Amino acid sequence: MKSAIYPGSFDPVTFGHLDVIRRAAKIFDGLTVSVLNNKLKTPLFSVEERVKILTEAVKDIPNVKVESFSGLLVDYARSRDVHVVIRGLRAITDFEYELQNAQTNAKLSDGSLDTIFLTTSLEYAYLSSSSVKEIASFNGDISMCVPEFVAELVYKKYGLEKKQK
Ligand code: PNS
Repeated sequence: MKSAIYPGSFDPVTFGHLDVIRRAAKIFDGLTVSVLNNKLKTPLFSVEERVKILTEAVKDIPNVKVESFSGLLVDYARSRDVHVVIRGLRAITDFEYELQNAQTNAKLSDGSLDTIFLTTSLEYAYLSSSSVKEIASFNGDISMCVPEFVAELVYKKYGLEKKQK
């Protein structure tokens, strides 16, 4: 069985992430979406909340599961016996950071962890979790960025009602 891990912060998951998840799930027999529990960052959603949100968002894709991890990605991948990492590339600006991470992970794993990049579909190329949070914090419309139930949870975090169109 060919399995892959799609790691990230997913704070919150966007349509761009979901596009990568759907496409990767078609290529691999099993895909694990892995939420990083990063103690150095202060996320909008706790790791438990992000796992719950993602689980709901991918519930119609049978070969996708969601879990969290902490520490190094290479250690986590080894613990799951997975040798492929999926990452999305939106633009050339993502490339330098992603290339460095991929090469670091290859080195740290003695070549046993490869990274496969899926280019983000054009319609989602502008999307980022950071811009979703910024737009929502000013009560802007994020309906084109995240599923409706996610948008409601994001507005709630900022003490706002759902944006009326
Ligand atoms: O969604 P993000 O924040 O761009 O995801 C980044 C992520 C989680 C893929 C990356 O930060 C990561 O793998 N962190 C785990 C720690 C690690 O293994 N670092 C070494 C690779 S440079």
